[in-house]
Amino acid sequence: MRVLFIGDIFGRPGRTVVHRLMAELREEFQPSLIVANAENATHGTGMTRAAFEELSVEGIHVFTGGNHTLGKHEILILMDEHPNVLCPGNASLALRRHGWFVWPSSDGPIGIVNVIGQYCMSAVDSPYDYLEDVIGGFDMEHVVMRFVDIHAEATAEKAALLHLFDGRVSVIVGTHTHVPTADARVTEKGTAFITDVGMTGVMSSIIGLDPETVLRRIQTGVTYPPHVAEGEATLMAVVVDIDPLTGKSTSILPLQRKS
Ligand SMILES: [Fe+2]
Repeated sequence: MRVLFIGDIFGRPGRTVVHRLMAELREEFQPSLIVANAENATHGTGMTRAAFEELSVEGIHVFTGGNHTLGKHEILILMDEHPNVLCPGNASLALRRHGWFVWPSSDGPIGIVNVIGQYCMSAVDSPYDYLEDVIGGFDMEHVVMRFVDIHAEATAEKAALLHLFDGRVSVIVGTHTHVPTADARVTEKGTAFITDVGMTGVMSSIIGLDPETVLRRIQTGVTYPPHVAEGEATLMAVVVDIDPLTGKSTSILPLQRKS
């Protein structure tokens, strides 16, 4: 079972590089499942229905989210209509059922769970308790392949999640910082891990945003609305191989591609 996971798709430049590279990536890696974090897909904040439809056409099967997912209220309708659109399930009681989904892949069912960290995020429940509840729940307890996106600011929160769930989930990928980390590995217990996959957006930016408007804000204290950086984007992703019989991962490969 091969999963392609695409890091935070940021605005139009991010969606454009996905469009330009997806056929090539599908041909090269032949993934059974494509998951993308799309919390920044529309103007850097949330994902509208139009962006969801655009990215679905590219072959993305499951969408994860983060702190910006709730920035566009239509996401609630989208998640009700499409169970493959997720947001962090520990963000609020009302969202718990939208934090996980079981995808019936050609290699067998795989559970995808989306949680958010607590550091620098507005009050959210424990991601550790939430993930424990979900993987022990009726729908997931017999699903051996389990993929987790933890959307978090602090590297330690992601490492803590790995130590708590090592060998009990197949994959833990970190998202949110937009900066890829060089620690991709598979543990002895078979969990593939990376602290942060990085961003699918313009690298010569301030984490996806136009530097000029961000600097104007920093220098004056005036809350100028941020703008998505223009230019050529880089796609950052990981390719993970999972044994469908045991749920153990065998490899994780970080990618950075330009179109
Ligand atoms: Fe985020």
